[in-house]
Amino acid sequence: MCGIVGYLGKRDAYSTILKGLKRLEYRGYDSAGIALLDQDLRVFKKKGKVADLEQHLNGEKLTGHVGIGHTRWATHGEPNDINAHPHFSPSQKLAIIHNGIIENYDAIRTDLVNKGHKFESETDSEVLIHFIEDIQNHNTSDLEEAVRLALTKVVGAYAIVIISKEDPDMLIAARKGSPLVIGLGKDEFFLASDATPIVEYTNEVVYLNDSEIAVIKGNDLKIKNTEDVHTTPYIQTLDLELETIEKGGYEHFMLKEIYEQPKSISDCMRGRLNAEEGYLVLGGIREYANKLENADRIIIIACGTSWHAGLVAEYFFEEFCRIPVEVEYASEFRYRNPVIKEGDVVIAISQSGETADTLAAIELAKSKGAIIFGVCNVVGSSIARSSHEGAYIHAGPEIGVASTKSFTAQLIVLSMIALGVAHQRGTITEQTYRQMLVEMETIPEKVGKALKLDTQVKYIADLFKDARNFLYLGRGYNFPVALEGALKLKEISYIHAEGYPAAEMKHGPIALIDEEMPVVFIATNDSSYQKVVSNIREVKARKGKVIAVVTEGDSIIPKMAEFVIEVPATHEALMPLVSVIPLQLLSYHIAVMRGCNIDQPRNLAKSVTVE
Ligand code: AGP
Ligand code: GLU
Repeated sequence: MCGIVGYLGKRDAYSTILKGLKRLEYRGYDSAGIALLDQDLRVFKKKGKVADLEQHLNGEKLTGHVGIGHTRWATHGEPNDINAHPHFSPSQKLAIIHNGIIENYDAIRTDLVNKGHKFESETDSEVLIHFIEDIQNHNTSDLEEAVRLALTKVVGAYAIVIISKEDPDMLIAARKGSPLVIGLGKDEFFLASDATPIVEYTNEVVYLNDSEIAVIKGNDLKIKNTEDVHTTPYIQTLDLELETIEKGGYEHFMLKEIYEQPKSISDCMRGRLNAEEGYLVLGGIREYANKLENADRIIIIACGTSWHAGLVAEYFFEEFCRIPVEVEYASEFRYRNPVIKEGDVVIAISQSGETADTLAAIELAKSKGAIIFGVCNVVGSSIARSSHEGAYIHAGPEIGVASTKSFTAQLIVLSMIALGVAHQRGTITEQTYRQMLVEMETIPEKVGKALKLDTQVKYIADLFKDARNFLYLGRGYNFPVALEGALKLKEISYIHAEGYPAAEMKHGPIALIDEEMPVVFIATNDSSYQKVVSNIREVKARKGKVIAVVTEGDSIIPKMAEFVIEVPATHEALMPLVSVIPLQLLSYHIAVMRGCNIDQPRNLAKSVTVE
C-alpha cells in the first residue's frame, strides 16, 4: 500500500504534491519521492518520511507546474533511496509512481533483461515503466497506446501515474485494484490515492474504475479502458470532511483496520492458497522448509498481540503437525539462558518487525545455530531481514497502536505454514488438509458476518463502559483469544482486564467474581464446549455478569448468559479469527465511550524499539 499524488496546472507543483503526500502518509512511510517537470524531468527521492524528503530538498530550486509524488509501503525490495518511487524509464524520459503489486513482474523483468535492460531497483514498479518504454520503442511511438498495451499484459494490482519529458502538459494515470481519484479544478488537475490531498482545492472528482486509463492533456481529461473503449468521465461532488477521509471515512484508524479484516485476510491468502487445486505455497519459505518439516520442536518468540498469535499457532502446530511447540515472550527468552540446539527452529512473529526484544531474541537464537523464520507485516523491517526465511502477512499499514488486522493476518500465515508442514509430514490426511484449505477460504466472509454484530456489541459496550475490571475466559484455541480480548481492552480503554484459561479460574480468579464483575466467555462450539458451559455456571452461581461469544444457533448458553454474541461457525482451529472480532469491537466502543485516545493510547507506541 502506498500513497500517490499528481498535479498538472498553474500552481507550484512541488509544494502542492508535498502537502498531498503528507496527507497520504498514513498509507505508508518507507520512503517518499517526487518527479518534477520543468526544463528537464527530475526525480528526488529519499528513504523515510515525507519530512525527510522535504529536509533533503531544502535549498534545492524546485520549479515546475507538473509533477508526481509517492509515499511508499514497500512490497518489492527493502525501503531505501533506490527502491523509492518515482522510477525512471531507461531513457529517463518517463517516470512512474505505482501503488500495488505487479504479480508477473519477474517474467517481464527476465524478458527485458534478455533484451539488455538494466534495473536500478528491486521493485516491480520499475519493471513496468521499462516495459512501457520498450513497447514505445518497438511497437508504437504513442505513449498512451504503449501504456494501454502494457497494461493488457500486466497481472496484479496497480494505481499508476506517468509523467513524460516529451509531453510537458500531460499525465497518464490508470488503475486496477488500487484506488485513484482525479480532482478537477479550474484549468488544473489533481490525482491521488484518496481525496484527502484534493479536497481543499476542488470538490469535483472522478473516481477511476478498474481497468480505466485517464489521459490528462492541457485542460482535457479523457478516459478509456484497457480495451480501448472510451467513456465519459463521471464527475462526483465530494461531501467529506478532511479529517474523516484521512481515515477512509472511519472515525479512527483502529476501527478502519478492524473493518479491513475481510480484505486483509484475503490479501494474505491471495496467490498462496487455492482450495480447489489443493494449492498452498508460501514463496518465502523454500530453502529451509525441510528444517521446519523435520523439526524436533519449534520455539515461537514474540511480544504482545503477536505472542497471542503464537499461542494459537502452538495449538495448531501440535494438533496438525505433531511437533512440540514452546511459545516464549521474547523479553523472557533472551535473558534466561534458554536451551537452544544447533538446527532448532524458531518462528519470530512481529507486526512492525522492529520490536527490540524480539530482535534481540532472534540474534541470541541465531548465535546458537537456530534457524529463524520471520512472520512480519512491515516489508524490509529488521526482523524480516535478520530471519533466514519467512512469510509476510501483507495486512497493509497498521496505524492504530492496538493491533487488530495484524493479529488475524498472523493467524492466517501461521495456519498456512502449519498446514503445509503437516501435509509434508503426513500428519494429517489428504481429506483433512483439503477441508482445512476450503474452510480457510471461507474466513473472510465469516469475519465480514462477525463485523455485522457491531451494533449489538456497541449496545453491550454502553452497559459496561464504567466497569473497573473485566475477566476474559476461554479454553483451547479460544484461550489466547481471551488474552487478546483483555489486552485490547486494557491498552485502549485503561480498564483493568485479565485473560485466563476458563478452567484455571477456580484456582484463584474466581475470588474476584461478584455482581460487579463482567466476565467475557469465548464459548464457541468446539471440543471443550461442555467444559466451558460448566465454567459459565460457576460464574453465574457467584452472580458474575456473563457476556458470551458463542457459535450461531447455540441453544444452551443464551439461557445462562446476560448477553450472547453469535458468530458464524468454523473449524475450531480457525475460530480465533472470527471470535476475536467482537472483542476488538467491544474494546473499541468502550474506549470511545470513555473518551480515550483510540489510535495513540497513552504510554504506548506502535513499534517498540527499546527493551
Ligand atoms: C498490540 O495491540 C500492542 N500494541 C502490542 O502488544 C504489540 O502487539 C507488541 O508491541 C508487539 O509488536 P510487534 O508485533 O510489532 O512486534
Ligand atoms: N510494489 C511497489 C513497491 O514495492 C509499490 C508498493 C506500494 O504500493 O507502495 O515499491
